[in-house]
Amino acid sequence: MNTPPHFLKLADRSPQQYRALFDRTRELKERRRRHLVDATLTGRTLGMIFEKASTRTRLSFEAAISQLGGHAVVLPYSESQLARGEPLTDTARVVSSYVDAIVMRTFGEARLHAFVDAATVPVINGLTDEGHPIQLVADLFTIEEKLGGVQGKKVAFIGDGCSNMARSFIEAARLFDFELRLARPSAFKPPREEAEAAHAHLQETESPAEAVQGADVIVTDVWTSMGQEAETARRNQAFNGFCVDGALLRLASPRAIVMHCLPAHRGEEISAEVIDGSQSVVFEEAENRLHVQKALLEQILFYGS
Ligand code: CP
Ligand code: NVA
Repeated sequence: MNTPPHFLKLADRSPQQYRALFDRTRELKERRRRHLVDATLTGRTLGMIFEKASTRTRLSFEAAISQLGGHAVVLPYSESQLARGEPLTDTARVVSSYVDAIVMRTFGEARLHAFVDAATVPVINGLTDEGHPIQLVADLFTIEEKLGGVQGKKVAFIGDGCSNMARSFIEAARLFDFELRLARPSAFKPPREEAEAAHAHLQETESPAEAVQGADVIVTDVWTSMGQEAETARRNQAFNGFCVDGALLRLASPRAIVMHCLPAHRGEEISAEVIDGSQSVVFEEAENRLHVQKALLEQILFYGS
């Protein structure tokens, strides 16, 4: 049996597939602006399982498939039999028999892989503790829109080097050929094997000021990710000095754009002045989730690859 075209990490798609995906995203975004209606996914159903909270991922996938003529069914963990102990693998088998593809947001990647191994339809990673690849697709598309492509650009990530967002940026740096400067406290380094796999595309520092010098893109994310709430006080202390504020932004290229996957905490990892300022592309980045996910769903469900 052929393996379904899962999207679990960025490396699951080729450069040619990303080119086609970004071109189609641009087209779909323009069509939505012109209020044109598409029905490429009529009759298709997307199942979504959320073991963590979500606003953007849930709504943008639901809107994406609905606007293409399909339908989404959301299964929050707390309302499912998973919460009462039904095995994950039984759930994967059953859900696969009802829907054409599944988005799953969960904790450890091992849990996602156990689900995928038992699923018989394509699974899209909707965020794990270890990565957030679908967010990166929207981020890379946004960088292409704003700066004409990410290849050769200098991207500074300021914050938790072990977070899902930092780790997906590390994966992206090699695949999309850009320079990633990761500013993180020494206790929040990414896993060694992932850093090594990025080769010369990754430079690490403990200095946000050093990372943003001449940067084209500045990215940050929350200091405390979902599931880490008990560590909030320790993290707030450790990340003191890692706020993306106006003073830090002035050290970057004057044309630099600022990104954040949201939700954000103004006054912690990013100042209100920066996230709501003229260099922020944060809300277009969030909007682009809708457009890239439409293109990805079409690739998976319509073209079967
Ligand atoms: N950026 C993102 O994935 O947001 P949600 O947690 O709201 O889905
Ligand atoms: N790092 C954040 C991303 C939220 C979209 C978290 O995992 O909570």
